[in-house]
Amino acid sequence: MKNHKKLDKPYTVPCIIAVNIGLIAVIYWWVFHHENIETLVPVSPNVDRLIFQVPCSKDYNLEDFEDCKPKKCGRVVMDNIVSKEDARHLLMVAKKGLALGGSNGGASILDLHSGALSKDNSFINIYRLIEDQQINLLSETDFSIYRKVKNSIHEAITREFKIPKNKLFLTKPTFFSRMNMTEAKSIHDEYWHGHVDKETYGSFHYTALLYLSTYKEDFTGGRFIFIDKDGNKTVEPRLGRVSFFTSGHENLHRVERLISGVRYAITVAFTCDPKHSITDPTAQ
Ligand SMILES: *[C@@H]1O[C@H](CO)[C@@H](O)[C@H](O)[C@H]1NC(C)=O
Ligand SMILES: *[C@@H]1O[C@H](CO)[C@@H](O)[C@H](O)[C@H]1NC(C)=O
Repeated sequence: MKNHKKLDKPYTVPCIIAVNIGLIAVIYWWVFHHENIETLVPVSPNVDRLIFQVPCSKDYNLEDFEDCKPKKCGRVVMDNIVSKEDARHLLMVAKKGLALGGSNGGASILDLHSGALSKDNSFINIYRLIEDQQINLLSETDFSIYRKVKNSIHEAITREFKIPKNKLFLTKPTFFSRMNMTEAKSIHDEYWHGHVDKETYGSFHYTALLYLSTYKEDFTGGRFIFIDKDGNKTVEPRLGRVSFFTSGHENLHRVERLISGVRYAITVAFTCDPKHSITDPTAQ
């Protein structure tokens, strides 16, 4: 007992110093390195319908399209409007399409409307390739599931934002994406920069994302992040999850860099401007 007491004392000073160094390190990390991220929608459980309203930016003030432009802005996440089966089918379409090309950096796209397919540092046309090689890659079923899923998303947006169905149009680019952690080789591979869709793509008024793979199961990193003034908020991807939002400055966002695995999604874009509408792809 006595011995113990004696031993204690010489450790007191080093202990206090160690605790203080630890405390300073924690404060330093908090102030300079801590990213204040809130998980808005975790990968599970399954969500039926979550709505987050945000004040609209001024992006829509000077626009026509009274019936279609957002009166209220926000973000909606729904896990039950696209079936797992259809999502898995579209994942298979993405894989077989992208297998014909692929960028040499970490991000590749396939656009079934224009035919654009990433190839090395640029793009080729998948329909021309299919014709040249005389292969039977995309079936009528592939296109009909694609259209059905697109229609479900279109319907959900018109319902949630109270837009007459015939006033909201599919626009471009609407495309499959595949991301992994391979180093970027061209600007097309740098998917992680913050951006505003309405500014980046011009025609977008509503942006929808359908996830074809699942955070933590198929990949890590790769969360979707809304960059808000009061802190950043993530939506964690999940097979069949649909996330849609108004495309203006109220929804500045980015995709977190992948840490492992491969991430698949479809971006489905909608516009209020019939001049920018595109048609559904069909087997040709
Ligand atoms: C939110 O993310 C942006 C861009 O990634 C970053 O610059 C900013 O520091 C983050 N904000 C907070 C509060 O963590
Ligand atoms: C990652 O992407 C690159 C570029 O598209 C591709 O070459 C590579 O095969 C991909 N790796 C995996 C594991 O999918």
